[in-house]
Amino acid sequence: MSTITNAIPKIYDKAADFMPINGTDYIEIYCSNAKQAAHFYKSAMGFQSLAYAGLETGLRDRESYVVAQDKIRLVLTSPLKSGTDIGRHIDQHGDGVKVTALWVDDATYAYNTAMERGATSYMKPVTEEDEHGKTVRSGIYTYGETVHMFVERKDYNGIFLPGFREWKTSYNPEPIGLKYVDHMVGNVALGRMNYWVNFYEEVMGFVNILSFDDNDISTEYTALMSKVMSNGNGRIKFPINEPAEGLKKSQVDEYLEFYEGEGVQHIAVATDDVVKTVRLLQARGIEFLRVPTTYYDVLEERVGKIDEDIDSLKELGILVDRDDEGYLLQIFTKPIEPRPTMFFEIIQRKGATSFGKGNFKALFEAIEREQELRGTL
Ligand code: FE2
Repeated sequence: MSTITNAIPKIYDKAADFMPINGTDYIEIYCSNAKQAAHFYKSAMGFQSLAYAGLETGLRDRESYVVAQDKIRLVLTSPLKSGTDIGRHIDQHGDGVKVTALWVDDATYAYNTAMERGATSYMKPVTEEDEHGKTVRSGIYTYGETVHMFVERKDYNGIFLPGFREWKTSYNPEPIGLKYVDHMVGNVALGRMNYWVNFYEEVMGFVNILSFDDNDISTEYTALMSKVMSNGNGRIKFPINEPAEGLKKSQVDEYLEFYEGEGVQHIAVATDDVVKTVRLLQARGIEFLRVPTTYYDVLEERVGKIDEDIDSLKELGILVDRDDEGYLLQIFTKPIEPRPTMFFEIIQRKGATSFGKGNFKALFEAIEREQELRGTL
């Protein structure tokens, strides 16, 4: 049974939070062709060119393109030669999230605090400077090879980070209404969920706000367990999934096999108009998981009156769920790289603060149909 174990306080006391975080700073994806990936995020998902670092800025081993949409910044990084750690990462995991960067007021304090509380170091605090000021960044490991960087930018007013220059281009497709990172989900190995829940509690000061066991998230064939971790002010939410015993191989097992380890499963991005955003995404070639159209026959019975036109939701495949505080609309893309690993969720919250529990079964059955086609169920 799922229970709210520890709700986010309504009044946030920053002074009492030993790890204050202002929000998601950027997400860095290691990929084999950052230049083409940037084109995909612009063309298909409405991101805008922001910054660039590579040979022209003095780097010799890697190249990064930064694309942005409202508060979301993606850094797409590829190696420029063989034998790099980035190249090894891509060889092992395929394209995937390497860094979730967290915006803090003091990256040295954040690092020292995390280290004292048992974190594993990725990068000691480093000050970087250019004519626009200075930043401090530091980093610790989380699950798998995934990293949390702490970014302090109060003394910086450049376009992104020192070392990057503005990326100007004549190709600027319209944004599609994506606004901020709502949550980001990690898949961890069997038996490891509580270890990482404890890590986020002890090292990062997060609280476990929701728990789902295999009775909540199961179909006839597969099951998984999930716990949602939130930081003090609720701006950072990291659900953590673990596979559970089932008759067949679950989507989390499939992910762990193809990613060859633990890592980020999906990035949920928020919009204020899911119908418009999803219509644009579909017109630009993004493919989504679809549930049977019978889902919509009982939708109003299940979630009550909603503002949206149900025929539009049905046409686009958008899912709806309700909790005590309101409702939410959500939809999931198919994996966005060759391996069946990372995907995106598009979410619009209308009061609801939960994660779409009422859609889990229909959704996982849709994923199983995809797994069946891939021969990985
Ligand atoms: Fe999600």
